[in-house]
Amino acid sequence: MIAIGCDHGGYELKQEILKYLDDKGLAYKDFGCNSTEAVDYPVYAKAVCRSILSGECDKGILICGTGIGISITANKFKGIRAALCTDCFCAEATRQHNDANVLALGGRVVGAGLAVKIVDTFLNTPFSHAQRHQNRIDQMETE
Ligand code: RB5
Repeated sequence: MIAIGCDHGGYELKQEILKYLDDKGLAYKDFGCNSTEAVDYPVYAKAVCRSILSGECDKGILICGTGIGISITANKFKGIRAALCTDCFCAEATRQHNDANVLALGGRVVGAGLAVKIVDTFLNTPFSHAQRHQNRIDQMETE
């Protein structure tokens, strides 16, 4: 199950990504928002992250205007590894190396065509399971 959420700056791009998820027959839970009316992105970041940490969802997609605020919020959660991606190379690498469980996108930064390819890459790239990458991920969780 994929958790997806956005603020008003990401709403239009979220609609495009939902079409992609529907076309692929992928199960998702949409945590809002539901229009371009101004809202606070932490609300949606927190809802998506909580659904992943509870086990309800496996991966998340978060979209705000830049992808920055919503990814900073997500990365405050222990166990969440949110990667703000603007290209497919980073989307692939963050799955292979960081086992990222949340993809963040900027609705005012990437066009819909590229964003859908980034989502597709993120969802279809497995973690490498290389020990060096796992060691580094483990180190993220301690200060
Ligand atoms: C909203 O105007 C904007 O600040 C938000 O979508 C995001 O870009 C914040 O990082």
